[in-house]
Amino acid sequence: MGILVSGENLKMHFSVGSGTLKAVDGVNIRINEGETYGLVGESGCGKSTLGRILSGLYKPTEGKVTFSESFKGKPQMVFQDPYSSLDPRMTVGEIVAESLNYAGVDRVKRRERVEELLSLVGLKSDHIGRYPHEFSGGQRQRIGIARALAVSPKFIVCDEPISALDVSIQAQVINMLEDLQKQFGLTYLFISHDLSMVRHISHHVGVMYLGRMMEEAEVDDLYRQTYHPYTKALFSSAAIPDPDLAAKTNRIILQGDVPTPINTPPGCVFRSRCPKAADVCAGERPELREVAPNHLCACHFPNEQ
Ligand SMILES: Nc1ncnc2c1ncn2[C@@H]1O[C@H](COP(=O)(O)OP(=O)(O)OP(=O)(O)O)[C@@H](O)[C@H]1O
Ligand SMILES: [Mg+2]
Repeated sequence: MGILVSGENLKMHFSVGSGTLKAVDGVNIRINEGETYGLVGESGCGKSTLGRILSGLYKPTEGKVTFSESFKGKPQMVFQDPYSSLDPRMTVGEIVAESLNYAGVDRVKRRERVEELLSLVGLKSDHIGRYPHEFSGGQRQRIGIARALAVSPKFIVCDEPISALDVSIQAQVINMLEDLQKQFGLTYLFISHDLSMVRHISHHVGVMYLGRMMEEAEVDDLYRQTYHPYTKALFSSAAIPDPDLAAKTNRIILQGDVPTPINTPPGCVFRSRCPKAADVCAGERPELREVAPNHLCACHFPNEQ
């Protein structure tokens, strides 16, 4: 299977009081059809902004998103907070059917389609007339997923779809997303802070820092070997359930906070917190390049001990 969606030199800059905030600053990304691309990185690094660009919610300041010729329809999004993303005054049936109305589907067909969608996400047809507040968090997220599926999308951006849910419910929703992916050949961008969940669900994983892509590889490859000092730090700060992996990871503790993405200086954006930073890192921004087969890293000193 080929590439379904790709972004080239994507930038999203916002004008703020004190200058230009570079939420996404020159990201290249390719997502294969039928796969899940996991996107990780600390809070504020630009994951949601990149997701919004790829889903078409934001028009990037610069750069271009391209879909393969086989792509039809619109990308969809599933959000973190299933309560605030559902209109409390609308019934479940209305929420799920909303995009179908626009598509000019008649009433009977619409009702059938809504029932079918609800059953796909494990809800019952007698839920149609109820309101979002009558459901649990996990059920609300199922409603959000049913709404996303309504237009038979090929590509869904899942922005922390399980982080607001009870741990016991998280696995159910993840399993459902995986089943739906197999059934409909869906492609996901899966944004999460949960490195174990990302490992479980993803085929490729990208690591962002301050608007830039720092490292990217196939999931097993990345969880076996990291090249970027930031990825090492991120992975070593997380509790890694795999003891072999934990033992192999040289623990680097991140010092200080993430700097602000406003008026970032030239050079590597990670250098202010990087244990390996040298003069070249201040002068020259490292590009994402192949440091091992199919393993990309944006660092002047990849994996140097
Ligand atoms: N509409 C906006 N206007 C101005 N700044 C914005 C806007 N949207 C996002 N930002 C800023 O862009 C940066 C990236 O935000 P984004 O929401 O993409 O991060 P994130 O990686 O999704 O973080 P989190 O893990 O907390 O969800 C942040 O500094 C944020 O404050
Ligand atoms: Mg976010």
